Amino acid sequence: MTLPKHVTIFEMGARDGLQNENARIATGDKVRYIDLLSRTGLKWIEATSFVSPKAIPQLADATEVFARIRKAPGVRYPVLVPNLKGYERARAAGADAIAVFTAAAERFTKRNINMTLDESLATFTDVVSTSKRDGCWVRGYVSTAFGSPFGDVVTPQMVLDVSLKLIEMGCDELSIGDTIGVGVPSQVDELVPLLAARIPLDRIAMHFHDTRGTALANVYAALLNGISKFDSSSGGLGGCPYAPGATGNVGTEDVLYMLERMGIETGVDIAKVRAASRFIAGVVDHALTSKAYQAMEAADAAPIS
Ligand code: COA
Ligand code: ZN
Repeated sequence: MTLPKHVTIFEMGARDGLQNENARIATGDKVRYIDLLSRTGLKWIEATSFVSPKAIPQLADATEVFARIRKAPGVRYPVLVPNLKGYERARAAGADAIAVFTAAAERFTKRNINMTLDESLATFTDVVSTSKRDGCWVRGYVSTAFGSPFGDVVTPQMVLDVSLKLIEMGCDELSIGDTIGVGVPSQVDELVPLLAARIPLDRIAMHFHDTRGTALANVYAALLNGISKFDSSSGGLGGCPYAPGATGNVGTEDVLYMLERMGIETGVDIAKVRAASRFIAGVVDHALTSKAYQAMEAADAAPIS
């Protein structure tokens, strides 16, 4: 099996990361964090989420965040939208790349967006067709692709079915998510070829959470299966407020460290990502979980003997 030479990183810290933070984070700090991420070489930075402020109070300032971030040339700033109302808010703020999200699991979808799977697909059919007509780039998330926190049985075939529906709707790219971090490499080996038989590999990103320490192993398994797009969060920020116990995305620094040492290019500067993580670490009320981030911090803190 051959590994890709180049990998694209899709930075999730400002959305998937911050949406799960309990402490209220000031709009200016979110803007600063995204501006720091914009200087790292990352080409895709999910900026915020135009969901109901009642569902995710932390991101109620989406319009202001989106307006204030300094948009770097060549960087795209997709935003999450759950319905047409969110889409209209996102467009009014100036977004030209959006992400819709549904799940492979029925119960999880109900808890997360108060819709059945079919209702969510109907809602997104409208959102995706409107956004494609408006010339937007559209990503479709398939959450809980490796398991759900609410006891749903999720099979690779179910993930494929939802994925094909999102592609048929017009999504440019899919992100297949292990929302609660339960997946293991053998599941990746089973799922990716099933998807790849029907969907071009360059339209599939994988989104792993590191809840049980399996995220990097899953990234490696996905690489071996030809995937070259990965979602990650600087410092490992993240989780899902509707998935109890879920922790952050795999750390961007962890993925970058591994890929760099494997000779796979990303175009992203790990030291600059660390600087963004360090800034946000001073804002949130807990330590960051990325191991590579922690190692870099520890190396700097160690006395020179
Ligand atoms: N932006 C702002 N407000 C919105 C909104 C949006 N995108 N969508 C709905 N609302 C408002 C409605 O106007 C309504 O307000 P009101 O009570 O003042 O009249 C209220 O929210 C309820 O609207 P309704 O359409 O009945 O939605 P709901 O209560 O069934 O919630 C979602 C559905 C999808 C809007 C909500 O569950 C949601 O935003 N979920 C996001 C969850 C999430 O982000 N999870 C993490 C990502 S993995
Ligand atoms: Zn996630």
